[in-house]
This record gives sequence, structure tokens and C-alpha cells, in this order.
Amino acid sequence: MSRRRLSLLAGLLLGLAASGAGQTAAGGDRQMPANKFASQNDWWKHAVLYEIYPRSYADSNNDGTGDLPGITQHLDHLAQLGVDAIWITPCFPSPQVDFGYDVSDYRNIDPQYGTLADFDHLVAEAKKRDIKVILDFVVNHTSDKHRWFMESEKSKDNPYRDYYIWRDGKRSGQPPNNWTSTFGGPSWTFSDKTNQWYYHFFYPQQPDLNWRNPKVEQEMFDVTRFWYRHGVYGFRLDAVDTLFEDPNLTDNPPAEGTDAYGMAKQQHTYDHRPAEVHAELQKLRKVADEFPGRVLIGETWTETPQQLAEYYGPLNNELQMPMYFNFTKVTKLDAVQFRQKVAAIESNPVHGWPVYVLSNHDIRRYVDRYGNTGNKDQVAKLMSALYLTLRGSAIMYYGEEIGMENNDPKRVEDVKDVIGKKGWPKEIGRDGERTPMQWNRSVNAGFNKGAKPWLPVDANYKTHNVAAETADPQSVLNWYRGLIRLRRDNPAFYEGDYVSLNDTDANVMSFLRKSQHGTALVLLNFAAQPQAVSLDAGKVGAERARVLMTTGSQLGTVNITHLALNPYGVFIAELQP
Ligand code: NOJ
Repeated sequence: MSRRRLSLLAGLLLGLAASGAGQTAAGGDRQMPANKFASQNDWWKHAVLYEIYPRSYADSNNDGTGDLPGITQHLDHLAQLGVDAIWITPCFPSPQVDFGYDVSDYRNIDPQYGTLADFDHLVAEAKKRDIKVILDFVVNHTSDKHRWFMESEKSKDNPYRDYYIWRDGKRSGQPPNNWTSTFGGPSWTFSDKTNQWYYHFFYPQQPDLNWRNPKVEQEMFDVTRFWYRHGVYGFRLDAVDTLFEDPNLTDNPPAEGTDAYGMAKQQHTYDHRPAEVHAELQKLRKVADEFPGRVLIGETWTETPQQLAEYYGPLNNELQMPMYFNFTKVTKLDAVQFRQKVAAIESNPVHGWPVYVLSNHDIRRYVDRYGNTGNKDQVAKLMSALYLTLRGSAIMYYGEEIGMENNDPKRVEDVKDVIGKKGWPKEIGRDGERTPMQWNRSVNAGFNKGAKPWLPVDANYKTHNVAAETADPQSVLNWYRGLIRLRRDNPAFYEGDYVSLNDTDANVMSFLRKSQHGTALVLLNFAAQPQAVSLDAGKVGAERARVLMTTGSQLGTVNITHLALNPYGVFIAELQP
């Protein structure tokens, strides 16, 4: 047999292995096609973004903490996965009280993560693989060790005083109002240097900036220009909901109960989202628009789609990508709730582009929210099929592509996250979702060469790691690769409308992605029991479809009027005219 025919046969066998046992007709082992939208200004609309917590990704110098060269070493994994951009959580110099969300210098890299040269190298290597780099911009506050704050604290007439929010107390020993910090305790800390209080929505070590001061505004705008010039493609803006607060400092109304830190709860009416935030973000967007293709992503914890819609701006002139967090608020696998959340963002009044999120460094990993010991891989395939086949951009969290789980601390002595130390046991903190990335079966899962990692590696790393899952056609990793390939390959996914096919079924969610160049059908079974699905060929627009990916055993072209889904089953197919 000729060499060519041999390799064709091997390819065929590999393809069958990938599709045969209920994996994917698209196969996880095929080459990832290039993203044809990569050089367009609206590349982000067709993108899968991937969040990296740099402490936890890869520790190249074996000191226990991840770093930028570690990320650079693993860019091929990201290219094979098919991500279009990486968002790196704050890697700037910081006392690390809140692991980087307390920035002491916005224009450099924290030495524990590397140097500015390492960062430039990362951007250049990422570019070679068509991966864009997004940074995290902590806009609401700085560290109390930032030069601006240390100056500001010195005296009432210091030129930096008005960079922050300083006020007299109501009366002796009392803060200016009743606002409480989301990280526990009052939002005000007293400084005896000037006998005034400063405001901080988060820790006392994270004083809020005063964005009403034009000097702050200009400084921060220039920070973004600095990084755009270093090749950064945009920013994830931290805590934008609290960028401004009521200038009259009106007390917040009370709410029922006490928070994890023992404070009476309150409604955060006056410390969230006054209208000014939108005008300010529109200005920040103008700066981004000075650099083609740059994108602003928002950490936008809104309650209603209307509130979220405001962040796109009346003329889509604010944030291109305000994150839609409503999936993270669904506590169980329930098709009705997920369907409603999709409908809500799909019908947002300004037609803003949906940006889906399932997990991040502040939220329990979704396999732990919805799964149990026996079904987490199935849940991973189900939920990834949901958000990677919807119309919109998806923001993944590192490790979800291999089914990484939360590895929560068991004792308060082991907790690293201050909110966990402070709120234990009601608030255990966020360490569990921040543990080291699992690369292979070797020491510390290949995170480093054996130094004690800053957080413990999860015990499941022997089976759930990039190397083992690359070799396994049934793995969560190959499933993710298949889904992302579909988004790039198939017009139904990169340009199709979302059309829901059912309204009330609590177990199965079924929808079409309908485009001029083809239509795909997606069926998702949220239940632990098998489901029989009957579809009306008239409503769907076809009777037969070619299977693209499935957790079942259907292959080739099948009749779609009667289908069977296995527990947590996924069926994705292209309608045949
Ligand atoms: C939101 C970030 O995601 C979180 O990790 C951080 O603690 C707060 N903002 C404060 O910056």
C-alpha cells in the first residue's frame, strides 16, 4: 500500500474513533481552521476569549507562582483549542492583597510575573498564532500602596488628594454614611493623618479613585494608550458598576439579614451605577477607537437586561462586550431558566451583542455548580455545547476545557483569599476556582518542576490534564476543540440567528442557528434521564440533518423528527435541504 493511502486509512480510522463512541463527527484531533474574522475590527463578535489567572497557569521559574513566560510556553495549547484572545487578570505591580486587583503601578509588570520585555514577547508570540492579548484594567480603585494614594493621604492640600474620595465623618468616630464594603465591614476607613475617611467599595487596601477629577480621567485614559501601544487588543474593565457613587452620599436602604462578615445587609442603591458611569465609559471607548480593533469588555453585574443594555451605549458607543452573567446565577440544570436567560439577552433593546460567561476566578467552576462526582464530564460537554453554539461571544475560564473542578480549602488556615479568611465559614473565598492548571501527570500536574504551588493542585489531575485528554478522543478537551472548530467552520454558527424551537420543556432545550448559508440544529438534554425528542419538520424546515457533534451514537445523516438523547446528551446537526 502506498504511503499516501496508508495515511488516508489512518486518518479515516482516527476520524471513526473520534466519532464512533458518541464523541463527535467533527473529531477533536483535526487541525483548527483559521478564524476568517481575525483581522476585522469586530473580530470579537466571532471570538472565543479565554481568561487566564496568571498566578495559576504555568510557573516557568519554579517559584510556586505562575508567570508570563509560563503563559508564553503554553500558547500552542491555546492555538489548538482555537481561542481568539486571552484575557490575563491583573499582572501589574501590586502588593497582592487581592492578588493583583490592587494595582500599585499601572504601567509595568509585577516582578513575580516577569518583566515588560516578557510581556512584549508574550504578545509577539501570541500574534504569531493569531491570538490577541487583553489586559485587566482595574478602574475603580488602586492599591493603597500606589504612589497617588500615598501622596493623597499625606495632607488635605496634597495635589493628589482629590484623586480619591476623602470625606469628614458624620460625627466624631462615625463614617460619612452607612455604606458597607462588598468584602466586609464599612466602606470607609479613617486616616488620623488628616482626620478624614476614605472610601473603598472593596478592601481598605483598595481605595476608590475619584473619576470626577479630570486628572484621574486623563491619567487612566493614558494608561490604556500605553498598553494599546504595547499591542494589547483591549481591556476587561474591573468593577465598572461601582466606578461612581452618589455625590450626596445618601445612606443605602436596609435589606434583610446579615452578610457573611456579620454586617447588616443593605440595598446597594447609592453606591452602584449612577448615570455618570455611562458618560465616562463612552469617553474611554473613544480612546479605544483611536486604535483599530480594540475592544472594551465590562465586568457588568447587572440585574436586568435593561441595565445591561445601557452598558452597550445608546448608539453602541460604550462597551462592545458587557459580560452577561445571568447564566452564572442559574443554580441547577434547568432548560427553562437557561432558555429564558438566552431570550432576555437576545431581545435586549439596543441589540447589543451577547457575551456569555459560565465561570471565572470569582465564581465556582460550573461543573461544581451543576454536577456531582459521577457526571462532571457530561455536564462539561453539555454546558460548553450550550454557550459555544449560541449567537454571541464566549468567555472561557482556564481549565474548563479539561473539566477542572473546584478544589476548595477545607480549613481556614489554608485559605489564601482574604474574603475567605475574613468570612470563613460562611464565605470560604475563591481559592477553590483558582488552583493550578493541569498540564500532565507529572509533579504538580506540570504546573512547575516541583516547588510547592501557591494553591494545591486538584486530586483529579491524573485523569484531567491536557496531555491525557489530547490523547483521548472522548475527552472534554477534544469536545471543546470540536465545538470551537464548528464555530469557525460552519456559517450557521458564525453568522446564524438564534431561533428557539421550544418554550416550556424543563429538560430539553432545542434551537436552530439559522443563516443564509446553512442552518444547524442544537438539542441539549439538561436531565439525568434519557429523553425522546419529537420535532416538527415543518417548523424546523427539514426532515433530515447531518450530524456534526453528538454525545450519542448517531452518525451520518439522520431523520430528526424522532431523536433520542442520552442523559445530559448533546446533539448538533446541520439541516439537509
Ligand atoms: C472583581 C474581580 O473580578 C475580583 O477578583 C476582585 O476581587 C474585585 N473586582 C475587586 O477588584
